[in-house]
Amino acid sequence: MPDFSRKLLPLLGHSGGSRDAMTCLYRCGNACDHPAPNQSANPYLGDVVNAEMSRRGVITAGAAGAMVLGFGGSVLAATPAFAGGHHPTKPATPAKAGKIGFTPVAPNTLDQVSIPAGYQTSVVIRWGDAVVPGAPAFNVDRQTAAAQSKQFGYNNDFVGVVPIPGSKDRALLVVNHEYTNENLMFRGFTSLDALTVEQIQVAMAAHGLSVVEIERTGKRGQWKPAKDHRLRYNRRITALATEFKLTGPVAGTAAVKTAADPSGKIVIGTLNNCAGGVTPWGTILSGEENFNQYFVGGDAVAAETKPKLSRYGISTTARYPADSRKWERAQERFDLAKHPNEANRFGWIVEVDPFDPDGRPRKHTAMGRFKHEGANVIVAGSGHVVAYMGDDERFDYLYKFVSDKKYIKSDAPWARKHNLTLLESGTLYVAKVTGDSPATEIDGTGTLPADGKFDGKGQWIKLVSGNRSFVPGMTAVDVLTFTRLAGDAVGATKMDRPEDVQPSLRTGKIYAAMTNNTNRGVGTNPGVDEANPRNANKHGHIFEITEDRGDHTGLTFTWQLPIVCGDPAAAGTYFGGYDKTKVSPISCPDNVAFDSAGNLWISTDGNALGSNDGLFATPIEGKERGHLRQFLTVPKGAETCGPFITGDDKSVFVAVQHPGEITGASVDNPASHWPDGDFAKPAVIVTWKTDGGPIGS
Ligand code: FEO
Ligand code: CA
Ligand code: CA
Ligand code: CA
Repeated sequence: MPDFSRKLLPLLGHSGGSRDAMTCLYRCGNACDHPAPNQSANPYLGDVVNAEMSRRGVITAGAAGAMVLGFGGSVLAATPAFAGGHHPTKPATPAKAGKIGFTPVAPNTLDQVSIPAGYQTSVVIRWGDAVVPGAPAFNVDRQTAAAQSKQFGYNNDFVGVVPIPGSKDRALLVVNHEYTNENLMFRGFTSLDALTVEQIQVAMAAHGLSVVEIERTGKRGQWKPAKDHRLRYNRRITALATEFKLTGPVAGTAAVKTAADPSGKIVIGTLNNCAGGVTPWGTILSGEENFNQYFVGGDAVAAETKPKLSRYGISTTARYPADSRKWERAQERFDLAKHPNEANRFGWIVEVDPFDPDGRPRKHTAMGRFKHEGANVIVAGSGHVVAYMGDDERFDYLYKFVSDKKYIKSDAPWARKHNLTLLESGTLYVAKVTGDSPATEIDGTGTLPADGKFDGKGQWIKLVSGNRSFVPGMTAVDVLTFTRLAGDAVGATKMDRPEDVQPSLRTGKIYAAMTNNTNRGVGTNPGVDEANPRNANKHGHIFEITEDRGDHTGLTFTWQLPIVCGDPAAAGTYFGGYDKTKVSPISCPDNVAFDSAGNLWISTDGNALGSNDGLFATPIEGKERGHLRQFLTVPKGAETCGPFITGDDKSVFVAVQHPGEITGASVDNPASHWPDGDFAKPAVIVTWKTDGGPIGS
């Protein structure tokens, strides 16, 4: 076992944390340089919870709906194969003591994808590759919005792979394109202000999602875009032109009506789509995250609107904030001085049906509006579907949504039509957590309290159910449109940037990545608590939720921190109690995923230990819990996104986002030459075991 801890590399420098300054500007509009938007005193209204709990009475016992995403041994059914029992009548599959067998990849700053011995990796698709038939060949010097609207977009983040019914070797790859780096996309770039309108429209077309039909090549785990037949499903969804339908209680209300859309039901485009999830009915959920940076004119809105904008990080003092994207030069709707409701039409969970290439994707207002990282669904024992969600901002909250209707497990078209409506109505909850150790034992260094664990209890506080608000002074539409303010009002727990939140379909436990929060306990910012136990938390941690009685629709849970990230040789890090000399260093967990054995896979964004970002795997049950190993690292300047492990465990897909995103880099002076040897291009890769065996074994 290599000794990683002795090989840690010099820290990268930027005041905003571990990320390069270029990332901070383009990805989130320099969020770290602004005060955290959550300045709430956040009083705890215990009555809200207690009243709800007594009203609800006995909580239904249930168990996790154990599901394994497709590519299983059996023939795929008429609808995408998400095999497994969705209405379990017995407890979820007992936890296995997972085991992982690859030789870890050492931390490094190489300009390549590094993988363990015995594995192979290849690019599936890169920025500019054709998606829609008829797409012109990519030419960095002659890029147009029309061309980009048919080509793979920029900065791939979420990756979902949905089997095509009736085929073991065909699937739909669905990818988010979170944001653009215009300085790495256009030769001769000088500033966003100097872009032509056509270039801005290229950037708008490079946002959104791609749906790409892929096929397995050979018998192992390699996949490539399908080319040899009519591509029925390939699609580009963009911020420039794609129409979305708003669903749920906010649709059609005054909050979302604009001059261009007096119906308040049809939105053009989706913004800053970060992580996401694949639903049991074969659709994709995608989170609209840092949408604030696309809007200007917040200084000119009505006085009562300003707190609602600033809680979401939209400037209410500058006419043209210095770190905005300048899109108002191409489309006037991004100027809130003229169209004050346009921002209310972003910040939602988007559902895309990849099998309906001509349909309008939907934005589900019943799931609340915040800086959605993503959403992942599990079918509760009762049959209701439950989506777990994070609001990725320092000191923001964890949420869950419980559907009104029940999932129907059937391949019949009528059943899928029903399931497609599940996220349109339901109940939204926010998490409040407490620790079980004395506050004096949480000293801010990460030293474990006397009971040996960062752990405790939690409550799901009901915010809104359909058209009924449970937040005093806010209507249901208010709660759903300004969900952060609702969370403030009920005393939700301020977390260290909740990113991807995903239930393990094997155990029913839920895992949330808390990326980091360098403001925790600094200055006048909130101090530590047992769930966020380190001051100036630059390496982040994993938060594990176990719903009481296994009931995902319930109101109470217990929690633990299985991993407190950082250099394992340093005090204040924790790896499930496993021998820290045998684990890989990890920093800034962002996305989580599971293989079919239930092992937890974690990708990182912004490694503050000096190495490139990577993908890690650890058993999460049994004696090997916390035996974390680095599986892969990405090239210089890149973030590791996705990941997605196919149900047969033969392939792991990773999105390599923003390679070469380092201050001073350009098309002509790239900081990364990955993947083609010239200038950097974001791309999705697939990695498989050379002998065709299960990944990680
Ligand atoms: Fe786009 Fe929260 O990362
Ligand atoms: Ca404790
Ligand atoms: Ca993320
Ligand atoms: Ca995930």
